[in-house]
Amino acid sequence: MVTYRFYSCILSMIILVLSFHESPLHAADTLTANQPLSGNQKLVSQDGKFALGFFQPAGIAAGGSSGKWYIGIWYNKIPVQTVVWVANRGTPIYDPASSNLTISADGNLVLLVKHLKIPVWSSNITNNTVNNSTVAVLLDTGNLVIRQDSNTSSNAIWQSFDHLTDTLLPGCKFGRNKVTGVTKHQISWKEPSDPSPGMFSLQLDLNGANQYTLLWNNSVEYWASGNWTGNSFAGTPEMSASGGDTNNPRYTYQFIDNDQEAYFMYSVKDDALLIRNVVDVLGQSQTWVWVDAVQAWLLYFSGPKSKCSVYGICGAYSKCSEDTVLSCTCLKGFSENPTNRNPGNRTAGCRRNVPLQCGSSDSSKAKDPDRFYMMSGVNQLPDDAQGTNATNINDCESACLNNCSCTAYHFNGTCLLWYSDIVNLRDDIDDVVHNIFIRLAASELPDSRRDKHWLIIGIIIVGLTVVSTGAAILYFLHVRRRIHSIYCADGSLVNFRYSDLQLITRNFTKRLGAGSFGSVFKGTISGATTVAVKRLEGLRQGEKEFRAEVSTIGNIHHINLIQLLGFCCRGSKRLLVYEYMPNGSLDQHLFGKSGPTLSWSTRYHIAMGIAKGLAYLHEGCRDCIMHCDIKPQNILLDASFVPKVADFGLAKLIGHDFSRVLTSMRGTLGYLAPEWLSGQAITSKADVFSYGMMLFEIISGKRNMEHEASTGSPGDFFPLLIAEELPKGEVCTLLDPKLAGDANPKEVDRACKLACWCIQNHPDRRPSMREVVQILEGLKPVEMPPIPRYLQLFGDSED
Ligand SMILES: *[C@@H]1O[C@H](CO)[C@@H](O)[C@H](O)[C@H]1NC(C)=O
Ligand SMILES: *[C@@H]1O[C@H](CO)[C@@H](O)[C@H](O)[C@H]1NC(C)=O
Ligand SMILES: *[C@@H]1O[C@H](CO)[C@@H](O)[C@H](O)[C@H]1NC(C)=O
Ligand SMILES: *[C@@H]1O[C@H](CO)[C@@H](O)[C@H](O)[C@H]1NC(C)=O
Ligand SMILES: *[C@@H]1O[C@H](CO)[C@@H](O)[C@H](O)[C@H]1NC(C)=O
Ligand SMILES: *[C@@H]1O[C@H](CO)[C@@H](O)[C@H](O)[C@H]1NC(C)=O
Ligand SMILES: *[C@@H]1O[C@H](CO)[C@@H](O)[C@H](O)[C@H]1NC(C)=O
Ligand SMILES: *[C@@H]1O[C@H](CO)[C@@H](O)[C@H](O)[C@H]1NC(C)=O
Ligand SMILES: *[C@@H]1O[C@H](CO)[C@@H](O)[C@H](O)[C@H]1NC(C)=O
Ligand SMILES: *[C@@H]1O[C@H](CO)[C@@H](O)[C@H](O)[C@H]1NC(C)=O
Ligand SMILES: *[C@@H]1O[C@H](CO)[C@@H](O)[C@H](O)[C@H]1NC(C)=O
Ligand SMILES: *[C@@H]1O[C@H](CO)[C@@H](O)[C@H](O)[C@H]1NC(C)=O
Repeated sequence: MVTYRFYSCILSMIILVLSFHESPLHAADTLTANQPLSGNQKLVSQDGKFALGFFQPAGIAAGGSSGKWYIGIWYNKIPVQTVVWVANRGTPIYDPASSNLTISADGNLVLLVKHLKIPVWSSNITNNTVNNSTVAVLLDTGNLVIRQDSNTSSNAIWQSFDHLTDTLLPGCKFGRNKVTGVTKHQISWKEPSDPSPGMFSLQLDLNGANQYTLLWNNSVEYWASGNWTGNSFAGTPEMSASGGDTNNPRYTYQFIDNDQEAYFMYSVKDDALLIRNVVDVLGQSQTWVWVDAVQAWLLYFSGPKSKCSVYGICGAYSKCSEDTVLSCTCLKGFSENPTNRNPGNRTAGCRRNVPLQCGSSDSSKAKDPDRFYMMSGVNQLPDDAQGTNATNINDCESACLNNCSCTAYHFNGTCLLWYSDIVNLRDDIDDVVHNIFIRLAASELPDSRRDKHWLIIGIIIVGLTVVSTGAAILYFLHVRRRIHSIYCADGSLVNFRYSDLQLITRNFTKRLGAGSFGSVFKGTISGATTVAVKRLEGLRQGEKEFRAEVSTIGNIHHINLIQLLGFCCRGSKRLLVYEYMPNGSLDQHLFGKSGPTLSWSTRYHIAMGIAKGLAYLHEGCRDCIMHCDIKPQNILLDASFVPKVADFGLAKLIGHDFSRVLTSMRGTLGYLAPEWLSGQAITSKADVFSYGMMLFEIISGKRNMEHEASTGSPGDFFPLLIAEELPKGEVCTLLDPKLAGDANPKEVDRACKLACWCIQNHPDRRPSMREVVQILEGLKPVEMPPIPRYLQLFGDSED
């Protein structure tokens, strides 16, 4: 029964994936005046890589069909809809069958809709001499060009590469034409379901420096790449790694600055490599690489590293923090704006529970002036503050109180006032800690006079709560018996009912964490067994992740692999139930600001445990299973710090996936083996590479990729430091300073050498996971490793 339901669920998902493919109908690459494009016809570039036609965004927020259609260019050969250019971004059409993309009498490429006199969209070429042999051609680069005749050597009079949307493709010059003064912009989509221009854009620094900046609302700069240094941008040294192979780079970067123009361009040597840079809807500049092995886009680079750095990402009156995932918390006196519908999008921020009384016409309210709530521990004060001449905190407070538009103040010798909604409060970075005083209506901060009222109200509330809790407990006991019997049925996976999971998790109230794929909740079965329930959100990627998890770890049991207890696949709901890990994920312990430091011996045991889990995955099961996403976030720790490899959403047994699953991956060389990018066969040695990168982080207690634009020196790259120190025998100086040198030097030396072996460029030179275990156990000697090749590249760029 369980099995049957599960397979029928899988089957419906497979059908869903297949229905993605479209049949080629209009397979030429050229559009002429008397052959308009309509309905489901499309142009296909000569090499078949790109297609142009009408599409509907597959964005999750659409929740079905929005009825809106756009003309766009997408990758024609991959099953995941990936649009790289949109013509009518802000002016959708509603019926492709009665619309035409054609060359108009004036030689423009236009989008026409029946009964409308004016084109919905036009290429707006003004200098085109009317000529009835004008054609539009979709090139192999993904560039749509308009030419005055079909002869391929004639010049383009218009090209989509000059009118970017959110995507920069290889071969496109991205910069400024110094003669015309035109600067190209990459402008984000508004939402995954809406290609109209969003708030975020990337462009060459408008002040003339040779760096790229991300702007919010075309005005506020919140990230810069750092100046071009000759082979990379100062703040993004990982972008210079040229695919991990200096001798035969599969793609190259260049930045050209001359009298006519300044631009950046990247090129691929192998046309089969799909790579794209995009300004995503939540304000990050990201480079994605298509990986055939997993049928997914993998994140190769993203900036800013911290999502909290994106301007206004949490909206007004909300505090941003990013431990493992971004989270936004409303300030006291504010609650979440109901327009925040999508859990990943909090940009609408929070609203006041009670309006300010200042300026209120109601005289009874006006008597009780607004007050201030002190918020401490803010690492970064919002910008746009105005200074005043107040010299003490009381004057500063009255200065704010006396102006009804003043929303907050800060005093530490000078008085700062804010006159607009407070945005960009954050506490995720180590910095000077500030106090900020937020203005609230007096009723939000009750004084002693009111306390009596509150007491009475409190008693009433407590009374009511006791009664209703009693009722709930009775109900709970009743249903609990049923769940208990399901759970104990046998050792195999439990197919939970949705209502059971609602009950187990108290209707999803205790959130343990959230990722781009969904949220994890704490639950209790039979009052004793604690479980973690992952609720996958967003239709398609949820299903892929779900399938991958269930089919890889559903039937595997190993002390160092997270145990899946059950699942729920009902309607569009996808949930997974795991054993609960009270100590959270490894990254919280390694990089978190609070909590005790993991001792060296704990670290060593964790490294060993992970290696054993992976060795079992690679060799112990019937089929070799690759995890594909080894990083500290995906290692969970039980009550005694035994590590469990978790999150099998990308595991290689399963063919398909969705790009969003990986959006939390940090940095380029983060954990990704070079062969993902250079097109060699992917083997379990890719996991060994990621393991090695993680081992460096376990040793150093810092993320490998930690530089920010200002301080970014490639020489700080930790694996490189170790590789250089190893021959001198001084690696202990590089240990996590929090350990204060308290570590077994033999183990440290072994771990450092091993980590260097794990990240060798050539997969064959890396040890297998079984050998890793043997080395860590001291059963197998480890030789001095050569410096991995791409680390040498980092070294070179210092000169
Ligand atoms: C689209 O083109 C076809 C064929 O040329 C033509 O019959 C039809 O009227 C056109 N429709 C619009 C809306 O221009
Ligand atoms: C073309 O020009 C029209 C009229 O000036 C304008 O409304 C439209 O936005 C322009 N289209 C593009 C794609 O620039
Ligand atoms: C169209 O214009 C191009 C360039 O102006 C010219 O070379 C070509 O002969 C013209 N074709 C026709 C049919 O007029
Ligand atoms: C271009 O226009 C000329 C004269 O106006 C006509 O003879 C010729 O057939 C047209 N060519 C095309 C391709 O429409
Ligand atoms: C295209 O133009 C080139 C030079 O302008 C010429 O040599 C070639 O014959 C033309 N080809 C066609 C098919 O017209
Ligand atoms: C029209 O202007 C564009 C850019 O200003 C130029 O590249 C193109 O060659 C011009 N076309 C003609 C036919 O003059
Ligand atoms: C986020 O939500 C706001 C409304 O709350 C909407 O305007 C905006 O487009 C959304 N952004 C994304 C990326 O979904
Ligand atoms: C980047 O270049 C600009 C101008 O070329 C210069 O003013 C600026 O100081 C440079 N920034 C850094 C961080 O070196
Ligand atoms: C964006 O900037 C424009 C002017 O540049 C301003 O009118 C608009 O209010 C700004 N949008 C937001 C959301 O602040
Ligand atoms: C601050 O400046 C205002 C006018 O600009 C003045 O009225 C006020 O007295 C000044 N306060 C102090 C403390 O200097
Ligand atoms: C409040 O402060 C703002 C910003 O400084 C100013 O424009 C406005 O005139 C002030 N209002 C009053 C009533 O002082
Ligand atoms: C006040 O804050 C500023 C910036 O927030 C800081 O530079 C300064 O050192 C602080 N002054 C004192 C006395 O803490």
